[in-house]
Amino acid sequence: MLPPDNMGLILGIESSCDETAAAVVRGGREVLSNVVASQMEMHALYGGVVPELASREHLRNIVPVVREALRQAGVRADELAAVAVTSGPGLAGALLVGISFAKAYAFALGKPLIAVNHLEGHIHAVLMQHTTMGAPRFAETWDFNPDAASKPMSQDRDMGHPLLALVVSGGHTHLYLARWDGQAWSYRNVGRTVDDAAGEAYDKAAKLLGLGYPGGPWIDRLSAFGNPRAVPFRFAEINRGTAEKPSFDFSFSGIKTAVLRHVETHGMKFAIERRRAALSVVANAALDTVRALCDAETLDLIASFQAAVVGNLLRQTLAAAAFHGVHSIVVSGGVAANRELRRRFAEEAATRGLHVQFPAPALATDNAAMIAAAAWPRLLARDFAGNDLNATPQLRLGAV
Ligand code: KG4
Ligand code: ZN
Repeated sequence: MLPPDNMGLILGIESSCDETAAAVVRGGREVLSNVVASQMEMHALYGGVVPELASREHLRNIVPVVREALRQAGVRADELAAVAVTSGPGLAGALLVGISFAKAYAFALGKPLIAVNHLEGHIHAVLMQHTTMGAPRFAETWDFNPDAASKPMSQDRDMGHPLLALVVSGGHTHLYLARWDGQAWSYRNVGRTVDDAAGEAYDKAAKLLGLGYPGGPWIDRLSAFGNPRAVPFRFAEINRGTAEKPSFDFSFSGIKTAVLRHVETHGMKFAIERRRAALSVVANAALDTVRALCDAETLDLIASFQAAVVGNLLRQTLAAAAFHGVHSIVVSGGVAANRELRRRFAEEAATRGLHVQFPAPALATDNAAMIAAAAWPRLLARDFAGNDLNATPQLRLGAV
């Protein structure tokens, strides 16, 4: 049995890609600290994440990041109820750093270890902030009394009715039906990218245009200065499944090729190389600096690319929501920070009477608060990982 005075404090640890993160969350919702050591600047030198360097940086950062998360939360390690860690999907070497640390730490403290799927974490980055969508609140379920763990949820929560979650990041573009049954969340994967993730397409298009890494935030900000209708991009027809079991898949490799073709046929290469060279000697370039290096044709291409990607994400998500009769949509992952995506989803959802939620910007990209939040129902259900927990780089979420 868990100690009654632990207050439901979970230490979350995340190291699946290029951020070493630790957070302390109370009762699956209240973020007491959320520390992220980003390796972005180092990987930017190579134009993308270098797995060996990521593992090395995680090793260097994990102890100070966990220590800082506890310090900021004002929590002693012995007050924790559990240690939660991302077990996949992600880079094997990177995941192993977090897992090895979490196992040793939980063992030394005599606390339970909880394994969390990174994708489930992204969904919980949104659920944890919305009282009517997420798992039961701390006070509703726990009341400092372990026997109250299975108390029914409050009336305002839409019991048994599924949500549709779009997880859209540098590594993933997935649509899940997520259902809370009063005890646990279950997931069904109803759409996925058949090639590149949307964030990967943003990063590759930005790299192609001589912009910095990661490219998503640059394209997001520069798009405001271009004409989104200047270049018509089309998405190839992909697997649509059957009438009874349609699939709402995505494909983003074609648009990257289309950007490349546009660059070649419009003689943009020289300007791109000039921009790349100019930006390679500027650390943390300001938006005005980058914008000044982009002509109108480039800004139009950037805005058109973004409009096409966001339009595609929106179309598939709305089609899945209509088919599955879902009224609530959750959009999460790094690309959920995109302003145009938020604007268009909110606009379309309002016209269709749908409810759409995004994470706070700090919880959109990889972090450990979302891992601790996703671990909360598992703590209540005593769903703990064994000491043989291993990294699962290709870990899936839910049934297909
Ligand atoms: O969730 P995340 O931090 O890591 C993964 O699990 O992949 O997502 C990172 C991805 C990168 O591809 C980055 O370019 C993209 O999210 N991203 C954005 C924005 N901010 C981050 N894409 C579009 N617009 C943004 N504002
Ligand atoms: Zn992620």
